[in-house]
Amino acid sequence: MLKRIAIIGASGVVGERMFQLLKERNFQHDSLELFASEKEGRFLEYEGEKFPIRPVSTADFSNIDVALFTAGTEPSVQYSQVAADAGCLVIDNTNVFRMRDDVPLIVPRVNLNSLTGIPKSNIIANPNCSTIPFARAIQQLDQQFNLKEAVVSTYQAVSGAGKAGIVELENEAKAKLDDVDYIPEVFEEKIAFNLIPRIDEDLASGATMEEQKMRQETRKILDRPSLPVFTTCVRVPVANCHSEAICLTFENEISLTKVIEVLETVPELTLHLGKGRESYPTPLEVSGSHNMHIGRVRVDKEYPNKLQFWLVADNLLIGAALNAVQIAEGMRSEGWI
Ligand SMILES: NC(=O)c1ccc[n+]([C@@H]2O[C@H](COP(=O)([O-])OP(=O)(O)OC[C@H]3O[C@@H](n4cnc5c(N)ncnc54)[C@H](OP(=O)(O)O)[C@@H]3O)[C@@H](O)[C@H]2O)c1
Repeated sequence: MLKRIAIIGASGVVGERMFQLLKERNFQHDSLELFASEKEGRFLEYEGEKFPIRPVSTADFSNIDVALFTAGTEPSVQYSQVAADAGCLVIDNTNVFRMRDDVPLIVPRVNLNSLTGIPKSNIIANPNCSTIPFARAIQQLDQQFNLKEAVVSTYQAVSGAGKAGIVELENEAKAKLDDVDYIPEVFEEKIAFNLIPRIDEDLASGATMEEQKMRQETRKILDRPSLPVFTTCVRVPVANCHSEAICLTFENEISLTKVIEVLETVPELTLHLGKGRESYPTPLEVSGSHNMHIGRVRVDKEYPNKLQFWLVADNLLIGAALNAVQIAEGMRSEGWI
């Protein structure tokens, strides 16, 4: 069994969680190496044991069996292919490989069964942080009721922009309360007491890259290449957890009872089906949860083939680190690594 593991981007918010999850979930390994940029003298700690974080330029990928890449686009372009060519299985958390035909895009709770072993490319891509919970929430509904169209608006936390995004929200909010001016550095506009309806670059289509990722990746994961998916992605002043308002249109009429029966079979999903305050999850309460949370589930009597609901998931876990670790766990349980 392959047991030499590495995390590239280990000092980031996602990398730190990957480290914790590998340890807490007892993912067996002989060695666990941590890498980031050239800054020296840092480490992560688990139960008193210190793991140094070294510059990725010093990594010897021929001596690593599985590498979790979460250091951003540039390092993935520079090192992921090098690692894969050296025989290391790369699980990549960036946008670099997701749409490549020879790279599977995997959400283990949805399409692990599309893998038959380690892919020839030696690379598996982790989808976008909003796409993962979205695909997990809609797959079984699609299979049961035949999805015709999906419309989703996201409310994305600042942690989606990494450690620096969280720090910017905190500093900016404090500056605003202290009546001091603040010039944003991470986001293109002030985010405290505000929201920004544009994430990532603009495309010729009028959509943003983030919106296009959700459409294209959902189609690839669900193997529905022409599924109409309409997305609006918005950054909101929430520290952690992405929320999504989802509206699905099915071929035929559905009933709330049957929808709930299906949702109850989705693994690692908490349903909020009570009244009033019990009818919805919030980012604050969901932060740190290994489950997706869904509430406000409703079928409109006027449109009985449409379903609406509210979804909240921890983007650093469900949307990134946990999914990557579950890919590794799934590969291991199949005996491939
Ligand atoms: N945050 C999310 O919700 C989320 C979800 C899905 C996917 N992702 C993706 O995951 C990646 C990391 O995100 P994050 O939120 O963890 O960001 P982050 O907190 O800013 O961490 C970035 C990490 O990448 C490392 N890094 C940056 N430039 C590097 C370089 N040139 N060489 C080596 N290492 C480098 C940083 O190391 P230093 O500390 O040494 O600078 C740090 O460990 C990004 O590609 C992001 O798009 C993030």
